[in-house]
Amino acid sequence: MEELKRRAALKALEYVEDGMVLGGGSGSTVAIFLKLLAEKVRKEDLDVTIIPTSYDVRILALNNGLKIASLDEYPTPDLAIDGADEVDPNKNLIKGGGAALLREKVVDYAAKQLVIIVDETKIVERLCSRFPIPLEVLPFAWKTVVDRLSKMGTATVRYAKRGKVGPIMTDNGNFIVDFRPSRDLIDDLIGLNYKLLSIPGVLETGIFLGTYVDKIIVGTREGVKILR
Ligand code: A5P
Repeated sequence: MEELKRRAALKALEYVEDGMVLGGGSGSTVAIFLKLLAEKVRKEDLDVTIIPTSYDVRILALNNGLKIASLDEYPTPDLAIDGADEVDPNKNLIKGGGAALLREKVVDYAAKQLVIIVDETKIVERLCSRFPIPLEVLPFAWKTVVDRLSKMGTATVRYAKRGKVGPIMTDNGNFIVDFRPSRDLIDDLIGLNYKLLSIPGVLETGIFLGTYVDKIIVGTREGVKILR
């Protein structure tokens, strides 16, 4: 699996040019990309700036000698490179397995181009085949949000597995609620996204619409495939 992620990450490097400001998504595939990018920047003496979407990526970028900046300084990054948990045939995504979806969506949607890097296991016929939809939720509102969501499917507050007791807190100090909608709701993703965002206390959803995605680079056993 690491090798398939690496294939996608290597291909994404080809889109990086000297002087670019890059949105740096979160997750294990982007982590591979950032390490490869750091090598390329060193070898070719490039000027590349990363806008991190999580503390994890911020630390990773700094530890690898990459230059970071804020979205305040660069509100329209040239290119965002991000991972995904699931990808459907229309390039719609589920993101947020690492709880970084809110900042990821802000940066990914702000960038001039969004390139997603995944291994082939992330490709599905319909979203929610394996992963639920993560929602970033205001802790104050968690119970009322979960009650409302339960009328449309199943919803659970995400708990830490180790390293912390109780619900995980996002980088923004919020909870994550993992939501599995009833099947019919998935057929209208735009409508579902809108419904979820209409619930007071839901701050963002892990549904990333395909219209915002320029390319998906898929690392497969046979090589790299690009979905446009
Ligand atoms: C982070 O919250 C997520 O959106 C990640 O981008 C997503 O979970 C993909 O992560 P991996 O590359 O580790 O599968």
